[in-house]
Amino acid sequence: MGHVRSAAVLGAGTMGAQIAAHLANAGVPVLLLDLDAQTAAAGLQRARKLKPDPFFTPDAARLITTGGFDADLPRVAACDWIIEAIVERLDVKQALLAQVEPHRGADAAVSSNTSGIPIADIAQGRSPEFRRHWLGTHFFNPPRYLQLLEIIPTADTDAGVVDRIARFADRGLGKGVVVARDTPGFIANRIGMYGAARTLELLADGEFTVEEIDALTGPLIGRAKSATFRTMDIAGLDILAHVAADLDRRLPGEAEHGAFRLPELVGALLDKGWIGEKAGQGFYRKERTPEGSRILTLDPASLDYRPRQSPRLPAADAAGASEDLAARIRALLQDKGRAGAFTRATLGRTLVYAAETAPAIAHSTGDVDRAMRWGFGWELGPFELWEAVGVETICEACQLPEPPAAVRDLDAVRRARGPELRILRSARDERPPVRRNAGASLVDLGDGVLAVEFHSKMNAIGGDIVDMLQAGVREAEQHFDALVVGNDAAAFSAGANL
Ligand SMILES: NC(=O)c1ccc[n+]([C@@H]2O[C@H](COP(=O)([O-])OP(=O)(O)OC[C@H]3O[C@@H](n4cnc5c(N)ncnc54)[C@H](O)[C@@H]3O)[C@@H](O)[C@H]2O)c1
Repeated sequence: MGHVRSAAVLGAGTMGAQIAAHLANAGVPVLLLDLDAQTAAAGLQRARKLKPDPFFTPDAARLITTGGFDADLPRVAACDWIIEAIVERLDVKQALLAQVEPHRGADAAVSSNTSGIPIADIAQGRSPEFRRHWLGTHFFNPPRYLQLLEIIPTADTDAGVVDRIARFADRGLGKGVVVARDTPGFIANRIGMYGAARTLELLADGEFTVEEIDALTGPLIGRAKSATFRTMDIAGLDILAHVAADLDRRLPGEAEHGAFRLPELVGALLDKGWIGEKAGQGFYRKERTPEGSRILTLDPASLDYRPRQSPRLPAADAAGASEDLAARIRALLQDKGRAGAFTRATLGRTLVYAAETAPAIAHSTGDVDRAMRWGFGWELGPFELWEAVGVETICEACQLPEPPAAVRDLDAVRRARGPELRILRSARDERPPVRRNAGASLVDLGDGVLAVEFHSKMNAIGGDIVDMLQAGVREAEQHFDALVVGNDAAAFSAGANL
């Protein structure tokens, strides 16, 4: 598995403790260090109580040993991968690396989880040998659940080190790895924050309610159900504002156009401490009532909470009737009403920004698509959308006289995407199922592996699936080496068929 037999995580805060947990999930013993042993132990304790759980099983935490930078840094000598995840400050990160360097094993990779500081800058002052083993590894929060891992080599990083960490992250940690250029915000935050800033602008303008924006930025356009504001409440408005301010500072060209400037509304919410779920309120607030609880919504003009309102967006309702994502987005982009104006000013501008920025931040347009799918949960990435929705439609909606260079040759965009690994689908296309009923099939995946694939409505488990699971076990025992239960659906199963 790319030879990561043991790891050290430096920093036991939100990210460090959860990264350590996920390494432990993969069976890797982890040394988790913070300022002192007590702080590190407290960080691990916090992680054990987090929801959703960063650990596969409570037992996995036994693979984590805690300690302090004050006494335990020499112990990193035994680790194949050292991950820095301390406070987002260049001077503090540089100082810690200077202390780490004398203890690093000759082949050990060292990486930073920074969200925005240039990777090369953090290793300034370190030896050439250290810098050959130095790279960025940007996990997304929560690291166990968000698939994207951006890997950021510098000009000095050894290709073999990148390969080793990428392989281990892919095979061992189950991450979707995208290698990004060392530019501010890397790929996903750069594009995601641009879109978030446009959306917050429109909320602050007062033309759209929180509920309307969530209706226009959720599954309707191929995004998560938590859409914009529920997602921001979960991630924390403080984190979002920090990342945006960092991009604004590090990208003066973009700052000139206010690309990452957030409206005053965000400052007002930060001042009140209404940063989302961890503060008990943000764009939404859950309130206890004698009957149970109810969700209230922020009114951005008065900064009061009010009962939820249903969005009044007939064009969104009409577009939502289609099963086809590209058709829905096309309809929204072409709509002459409020829904159209919103979609053009947010998604439309973000797609244009992604096309204009891609060459500077990514090695291929396919990488930008993968980063946005895996990091921000987009059903289709920006270039997949350019292709599916239509270059002409997007240019017309966004009043572009001509398409951005990156989308002029769609064959090149398709090539950059590369083949997608679809083990189950290819097996199904290649040979008939071993057995099939209305709820499930047995599919020969090759290499001695048999799969039980569900295909009932919402993959709800009924008698037919249970029969097929039993048949699968019998079949696998006689003719195969292994049995997997899986499917390609967005949700594995809705549960029992009641
Ligand atoms: N929180 C996120 O959503 C997120 C996502 C991706 C990347 N990141 C990045 O991960 C890193 C850690 O972020 P976090 O959210 O876990 O932060 P955090 O504040 O939760 O944890 C930071 C840790 O650094 C330690 N620390 C404080 N001062 C220190 C010092 N002077 N020297 C050494 N250690 C010190 C603290 O004890 C704390 O445990 C940052 O670089 C951040 O940009 C954060």
